[in-house]
Amino acid sequence: MTGRVAGKVALVMGAGSIGPGWGNGKAIAVRLAQEGARVFAVDQNSDAAAETRALIEADGGECIAHRADATVAEQVRGAVDACMDSLGAIDILVNNIGIGEAGGVVETSEESWDRVFEVNLKTMFLACKFAVPQMQSQGGGSIVNISSLASIRWGGKKLLSYAASKAGMNQMTRVMAVEHAPDKIRVNVILPGLIATPMGLSAPGVTSGLAHEALEEGDPQTSFVPIGHLGSAWDVANAALYLASDEARYVTGIELLVDGGLATTLVARAD
Ligand SMILES: NC(=O)c1ccc[n+]([C@@H]2O[C@H](COP(=O)([O-])OP(=O)(O)OC[C@H]3O[C@@H](n4cnc5c(N)ncnc54)[C@H](O)[C@@H]3O)[C@@H](O)[C@H]2O)c1
Repeated sequence: MTGRVAGKVALVMGAGSIGPGWGNGKAIAVRLAQEGARVFAVDQNSDAAAETRALIEADGGECIAHRADATVAEQVRGAVDACMDSLGAIDILVNNIGIGEAGGVVETSEESWDRVFEVNLKTMFLACKFAVPQMQSQGGGSIVNISSLASIRWGGKKLLSYAASKAGMNQMTRVMAVEHAPDKIRVNVILPGLIATPMGLSAPGVTSGLAHEALEEGDPQTSFVPIGHLGSAWDVANAALYLASDEARYVTGIELLVDGGLATTLVARAD
């Protein structure tokens, strides 16, 4: 199928990837472009944003790469203004930026707590703060937030600030969904489970402890996942595409698990 988001402009925050391979944000940007969206790709790493633009252009799509630190209000406002100036609309906003730092309540430093909340939650707040008025004036839009299974379950490793900040994304999603339903702005959140992205394989967590990517069904390392293997960035991207598209026009305020059934199991793998 093609053209599922044809004619739409997608502002993707965190559209690059921290390493070689497919991150969630990069795959979401490319997938939206494959289905007809014009993409405004924002990242604090200009090379990463430029790589996403090159991938989209090589596919015959349209993308503008923009460098901004999304924890800084003026830079987010600047990105939204630049998106409007260059592409004339914001129909889809994807909040993909996120980091994880190891630690429970005792080990986590105040600096680490503040940093994780700034990157995971404040970036979403700022992007919504500046993009929502545009969507309101256009008569609607779709916001897709990328949270984590760790926001609702023990993730197998101590990631307190990550889990708490991602839970904040979930509740912001619900509150915004109700608040902006009259504006025809839908707001949904995706909860990826264990995804074989450069970030997932290097950040502290269960995935980073695996000997290899474990994307094949039946890999003994991932036998605790009901579907039997890790997810890929494309699994997250396809979910984001659905929520961004008009196919999801009656869907708002949901948490969409993309986790191979992991949330339904009672126990996480022990360390
Ligand atoms: N991989 C997994 O297993 C997994 C599981 C659950 C949830 N997630 C979530 O998926 C999201 C991202 O995954 P990814 O693979 O795309 O990660 P990634 O780190 O590869 O990509 C995120 C991009 O955001 C950019 N970024 C970071 N801070 C920024 C800032 N302040 N301003 C602008 N850009 C900034 C980075 O430069 C990077 O290019 C995160 O929110 C993460 O928590 C991942």
